[in-house]
Amino acid sequence: MPTSSPTLCGSISIRPSQFGVTMHNAGYKALGLPYVYVAFGTEDTRAAVEAVRSLGIRGLGVSMPHKIEIMQYLDALDDTAREIGAVNTVVNDDGHLTGYNTDWVGAIHAIEEHTEVAGTRSIVVGAGGAARAIVYGLVKRGSQVTVLNRTASKGEALALEFGARFGGGVEALGAIPEADILVNATAVGFHAPDQSLIPSPVLRPGRVVLDVVFVPPESRLIREAEARGCVAIRGTRMLVHQAAHQFELYTGQRAPFEVMEGAILAKIAQMT
Ligand SMILES: NC(=O)c1ccc[n+]([C@@H]2O[C@H](COP(=O)([O-])OP(=O)(O)OC[C@H]3O[C@@H](n4cnc5c(N)ncnc54)[C@H](OP(=O)(O)O)[C@@H]3O)[C@@H](O)[C@H]2O)c1
Repeated sequence: MPTSSPTLCGSISIRPSQFGVTMHNAGYKALGLPYVYVAFGTEDTRAAVEAVRSLGIRGLGVSMPHKIEIMQYLDALDDTAREIGAVNTVVNDDGHLTGYNTDWVGAIHAIEEHTEVAGTRSIVVGAGGAARAIVYGLVKRGSQVTVLNRTASKGEALALEFGARFGGGVEALGAIPEADILVNATAVGFHAPDQSLIPSPVLRPGRVVLDVVFVPPESRLIREAEARGCVAIRGTRMLVHQAAHQFELYTGQRAPFEVMEGAILAKIAQMT
């Protein structure tokens, strides 16, 4: 059976980023594990899966555009990955490759640190990959979800697929009755600290607001939500929760969450 020393984990995307490298390696170091994590840039999904098998790579984080194509090359899919229709994590158990999706876990764990999701009403702005995982998770946990999206056809399709309701474009936000949870699942605000799609009057005190944007962690939406008395959840919290879940799948050890979070916050601070 192929193996490596130290145990190799990594990620594939078109352009490798340092986010996973930073969080996972900090976690391995903190626990003294003989593991190392490397980010690979590749466009060839099938060949990457062959490399996982032939080199004995233990775990693989999967970013776009590989998340859907990779499903056909794996030996098994976790139920949630199958239901979401995308894989962001592969675990190699002695040559048997299973696909998981930890994106929804990251968002839901970050929200559940602040509120019960069952019985809530929530609004998700966006209908891309991040929105898909979040809508799935909120519906699965028993929230009544309304999706808003600039492109109506995409918003309608997402809502229909997961048992949510489509409420129109972002301009419909003001017209939507009280919601307990509001999520920005678009890239608006990413590397753009002055931009937010969410008008501040919508940010009512007590409302739970999650911004998926994590660079900068204090996005305009987060700053305005905090100023208006909302419970504001930074995108970094979601990011670390999903990485912590991957860490546990790869190592079988409880992830050192604070160490991983401290490492990513320091890395982002260097970048911004
Ligand atoms: N914190 C985390 O753990 C985490 C995890 C995953 C992703 N993310 C972040 O989530 C963001 C979205 O990623 P994704 O993979 O979902 O992207 P995506 O699949 O490309 O989807 C982008 C979404 O944003 C909407 N959008 C983009 N620009 C817009 C604008 N100017 N006005 C209104 N709507 C706009 C798009 O609307 P249309 O359909 O109309 O184009 C679409 O719904 C990225 O910033 C990514 O870094 C964070």
